[in-house]
Amino acid sequence: MEWTSLNDLREAYLKFFESKGCLRKKSYSLVPQNDNSLLLIVAGMAPLKPYFTGQEVPPRTRMTTCQKCIRTGDIENVGKTARHGTYFEMLGNFSFGDYFKKEALPWAWELLTSPKYFAMDKDKLYITVYTHDEETYNIWLSLGVKPSHLIKLDTNFWEIGPGPSGPDTEIFYDRGEKYDKQKRGISMLQNEEENDRYIEIWNNVLSQFNATEGLSREEYPELPHKNIDTGMGVERMACILQETETNYETDLFMPIMHKIEEICNIPYNGQMQFK
Ligand code: GLY
Repeated sequence: MEWTSLNDLREAYLKFFESKGCLRKKSYSLVPQNDNSLLLIVAGMAPLKPYFTGQEVPPRTRMTTCQKCIRTGDIENVGKTARHGTYFEMLGNFSFGDYFKKEALPWAWELLTSPKYFAMDKDKLYITVYTHDEETYNIWLSLGVKPSHLIKLDTNFWEIGPGPSGPDTEIFYDRGEKYDKQKRGISMLQNEEENDRYIEIWNNVLSQFNATEGLSREEYPELPHKNIDTGMGVERMACILQETETNYETDLFMPIMHKIEEICNIPYNGQMQFK
């Protein structure tokens, strides 16, 4: 794994998916357009909903973006964990009835682990999979992921209000026992506990259903086609690649901290201690 600036990592991701045929688009507005189910844009997929549902024809069936997001649901965690912010940027690659999991998951693995790209240590990556999704589990196995690094969870299903939704598979990076004083290990992932050891860096949603108010998950109608919706928090990924304690000590924020140190003539002594 090599130190990578946040700007370089953003560009590397977008270029990688352009090489896979995705159309690169600029971030959409933070204010949802023609969507009164959301107050603000919370994920890369949100401005693209009509392409997933088939209501509108996308400019291309494969796209990649770096979307400005505000996740109101994270506000309670901001300042308490190393990895939550209200505003953040989400890198995504999206397929609207084009490629599906047999392409998207190997590409995610290639970008994360290949020495040509982020060169992450495979032994530090852990992946959660929707319990009933054997196909996804087997794709990860075929890529060389050890069964001990694969965790099946009933809750791996992504939806945010009405619209495109589906089972998901989330990739976590293990920052080691330094962030796990009680040495709880992957039981924290199995029990879905908030922790600063295993950081979720990439969610791959196998978007196949139309979440509908008043219906249970099992009753959601299928979308007209199978899609891919993914999200990678840029600041989190920078924190991992730059091996900083928190998102706030990456090259995105530190120049600002240094300026504040200079103006106030007070040294920065690090963030509060996390459990
Ligand atoms: N849409 C996938 C995510 O936000 O995690």
